[in-house]
Amino acid sequence: MTSILYKAINIHNLNKREILHLLDTKESDKLFSAADKVRKEHVGDKVHLRALIEFSNYCKQNCFYCGLRRDNSKITRYRLKPQEIISLAKNAANYGYKTIVLQSGEDLYYTIDKMSKIISEIKKFDVAITLSIGEKTFEEYKAYRKAGADRYLLRIETTDEALYNKLDPGMSLQNRMICLDNIKKLGYEVGSGIIVGLPGQTLESIAKDIIYLKSIHVDMAGIGPFIYHPNTPIEKPEGNPFELSLKVMAILRLLMPDINIPATTAMETLNPNGRLIALQCGANVVMPNATQTEYRKHYEIYPGKICIGDSPKHCRFCIDSKIKSINRTVAEDKGCHFRSGFYNFVQNDK
Ligand code: 5AD
Ligand code: SF4
Ligand code: FES
Repeated sequence: MTSILYKAINIHNLNKREILHLLDTKESDKLFSAADKVRKEHVGDKVHLRALIEFSNYCKQNCFYCGLRRDNSKITRYRLKPQEIISLAKNAANYGYKTIVLQSGEDLYYTIDKMSKIISEIKKFDVAITLSIGEKTFEEYKAYRKAGADRYLLRIETTDEALYNKLDPGMSLQNRMICLDNIKKLGYEVGSGIIVGLPGQTLESIAKDIIYLKSIHVDMAGIGPFIYHPNTPIEKPEGNPFELSLKVMAILRLLMPDINIPATTAMETLNPNGRLIALQCGANVVMPNATQTEYRKHYEIYPGKICIGDSPKHCRFCIDSKIKSINRTVAEDKGCHFRSGFYNFVQNDK
């Protein structure tokens, strides 16, 4: 354990066997404090906030683990009008957020034209824009990049092909990897990540996920524990993947010392102090909800989501005081991973 951590802290590289050892260790505290130390050295004590706007819960996909899947008829579907999205983003910018994350299911209602208009309007508020709207064509990604989107979030979910095929019907791991490649080629900052604790997922496959995320040089990696949703075909698994998801996050910090790593909402759903714990085990980002209260309960990817009765303003102040309570401060810049401070838009017309 000590020699593996020594290697991770100093050369930020581990082989699969070493990663597996850390995933399986009983001495999680040592792993967590190593990740916390590396986080402090490489990205400092500032915490970057990203305002999350969940603008539509329609989804054409049918992922087995997710409450937004198209076959879930028990959910109340909603989609916000472009003007509503822009006005939520404006409010978020007024609350001091420097990044707006626009997230939805894969909803065909938002055409290239509609989405591009939303992006270019929000860009006027001098914020970075992250899109988290799923698998699109190269042309669509390109249009959004041109309209002003800076970052794109697309979790790989799992790199275990058999598991992927089982849980994501009609989708393919290969296409998801191509999407991430296209996103990178277009000069977006790339965010990806996995779900930890999926039924049938092994530590071995998680170790491979970690190696994959490092190999594609993600700028951001979001790790969420799996939370069972009753209106899905998945059976309820045993146990609580909170600690394992923290371990995955901590290992990613050791292997990619300067990337952005969020303390995810799903972590706080499983543990009332989940985000603050994660911020002390390698994370440096939080994504508070900036959707208006009435829609929050319907964006039910999994049950028990935090903040569903709260307002954007409440969450903004709540998170501020939580962050201060652990002697950290909220960053005032956009918190890009590209250190140069500007993005190179790759004009790639292939
Ligand atoms: N538990 C935890 N995370 C989930 N996601 C989808 N369903 C679940 C679940 N049941 C995650 C996926 C997706 C993100 C928006 O939510 O990783 O990319
Ligand atoms: Fe749709 Fe994403 Fe949920 Fe899959 S995980 S059903 S793509 S919202
Ligand atoms: Fe939403 Fe605390 S961040 S209530």
